[in-house]
Amino acid sequence: MSVHSNIRRVTTHVLHEMKLRGEKIAMLTAYDFSMAKIIDQSGIDIILVGDSASNVMAGHQSTLPITLDEMIYHASSVVRAVKRALVVVDLPFGSYQGNSKLALSAAIRIMKETGAHAVKMEGGAEIKESIERILSAGVPVLGHLGLTPQSIHKFGTYVVRAKEDEEADKLIEDAHLLERTGCFGIVLEKIPAKLAGKVASEIKVPIIGIGAGNKVDGQVLVIHDMLGITQEFSPRFLRRYHNLSEEMKGAVSSYIKDVKDCNFPNEQESY
Ligand code: KIV
Repeated sequence: MSVHSNIRRVTTHVLHEMKLRGEKIAMLTAYDFSMAKIIDQSGIDIILVGDSASNVMAGHQSTLPITLDEMIYHASSVVRAVKRALVVVDLPFGSYQGNSKLALSAAIRIMKETGAHAVKMEGGAEIKESIERILSAGVPVLGHLGLTPQSIHKFGTYVVRAKEDEEADKLIEDAHLLERTGCFGIVLEKIPAKLAGKVASEIKVPIIGIGAGNKVDGQVLVIHDMLGITQEFSPRFLRRYHNLSEEMKGAVSSYIKDVKDCNFPNEQESY
């Protein structure tokens, strides 16, 4: 028997129960084995293998360039580390918007080749057919509305979305549509807190916010941002729990100095 067999895994059903009893859901991104292991052992509920890997891992300006093969590489590394959390993987830009059959084959590759538990897709009515087809194959889908970074060139800017009534009404309609279609939850990104709270109270599935205030059922942040590894990204919603980039620079500088001064390795560190 495995030492981990007594761990109760987080499932979509567990998340639904958490919403019912008002227990908040904590979600973070991870893209590699070592980081995923630490986050999972800390007790996180959901690990998102986000297409934000395109920014924080690969250094691209947006999430658009990352490929399905690259997402599969990141997701399979994460899944090998995780014993408890639900692992959700972003379907990358271009893999699901145009054609629901291609969308299903992308989702199936993710499930088969990574061992992840669910996929996340950005959008509402426009991608309904793709969501339905993926759900019909038994793959759980997490929706994503509001500021959807794969549409950044349509928006033109990363400002708060749905401040005007027309966009807010469409977002509410889309949230109901995602719930009716069968999504197990919805991420709401960078929208007014009041609107997010309204969605969370009307919709029965868990609503996870990022820049959407605290009247929702849970929160998600990008791990590199909340640990202070990224420095250049400072939106108002981001709370930095650490200043890891400074700590890492300090450690690396000490190592460089020790090497240059012939202080590393010492006798105990040698064979
Ligand atoms: O890719 C990502 O990290 C995300 C979160 C910001 C929700 O979609």
